[in-house]
Amino acid sequence: MAILVLGGAGYIGSHTVLALLQAGHKVVVADNLTTGYRAALPLEAPFYHLDVRNRAALDKLFATEQIEGVIHFAALSLVGESMQQPLQYYDNNLHGALVLLQAMQAHHINNLVFSSSAAVYGEPEQVPILETDSAQPTNCYGETKLAIERLLFWASQASNLRYVSLRYFNACGAQPDGQIGEAHQPETHLIPLILQVPLGQRQKLAVYGDDYPTPDGTCIRDYVHVCDLAQAHILALNHLLQGGDNAVFNLGSGQGFSVQQVLDCARQVTGHPIPTEIAPRRPGDPARLVASCTKARQQLGWQPQFTQLTDIIKTAWQWHRSHPNGYTE
Ligand code: UFG
Repeated sequence: MAILVLGGAGYIGSHTVLALLQAGHKVVVADNLTTGYRAALPLEAPFYHLDVRNRAALDKLFATEQIEGVIHFAALSLVGESMQQPLQYYDNNLHGALVLLQAMQAHHINNLVFSSSAAVYGEPEQVPILETDSAQPTNCYGETKLAIERLLFWASQASNLRYVSLRYFNACGAQPDGQIGEAHQPETHLIPLILQVPLGQRQKLAVYGDDYPTPDGTCIRDYVHVCDLAQAHILALNHLLQGGDNAVFNLGSGQGFSVQQVLDCARQVTGHPIPTEIAPRRPGDPARLVASCTKARQQLGWQPQFTQLTDIIKTAWQWHRSHPNGYTE
């Protein structure tokens, strides 16, 4: 029996595919390659070039492969873009999840690990954020992820579907051997943008606001290594395969770092001064997002290995330095 990784050619997906193979799972990958890269995937995993909204293509895959569980990453995931293209986000993310669930039900596949996001919380009511805190998204991307979580809940009430929803905080870093890493077009995430400066691709980093109610005035986020996220997916999958209940987990490091602290750390790792300029706040950015990840540690036995921001940035730097243009070389 194999695990289907939908959206497996993307950033978190490709690291999870590798971790699954290393853990001895048989893996099948599907991706529409709009934001993912075939080059991010090991050749030994069978690959299906398909869109999750294509029911016929999913039916064919499920009829061909012996799938016992699905990890669903396939989604559009840019907060800013989601505000400009809400219909596209609902279509790709919510409609995509609906078609997937219909196909899974038709083929009696009952185990699903779903990529959710800290964006479901919106402006947090407390920090660190607990899974039971109120979820009031402040952007369309987070709204689509929350809508899918609700869909999973109701679908599971009426069928054999069981699911784990994983709410990621700020995914970052790269596979330590430097073979795969983060490659977005366009890039909007803090750490890769910072590293473009020492790579000579950008003159300075724009800091989006220095007047937040935080110690240095810049936003605080919870940065979690992509390989630790990958391991959490394997634990979530095993939880389901062993008959575990539906569950929602935060995945973060539990530590908050400000934009200035991330910059200082990147300066240390790269030995470059990385100049900055203060730019206006980015609309919709909460001042502080930090996960409580006690539940994932206790119930899944998750133990993140990358506990130091310096080590996380080192892996990102190694990847970007050796692949300055991502996979497009
Ligand atoms: N930032 C800058 N300058 C930049 C880019 C980012 O100052 O050029 C700041 C942002 O304002 C923010 C922090 O760096 O304070 C991190 O920004 P990212 O864009 O890297 O990440 P976000 O926290 O905005 O987004 C992440 C995930 C999203 C998810 C969101 C949940 O990438 O998928 O958390 O709120 F939706």
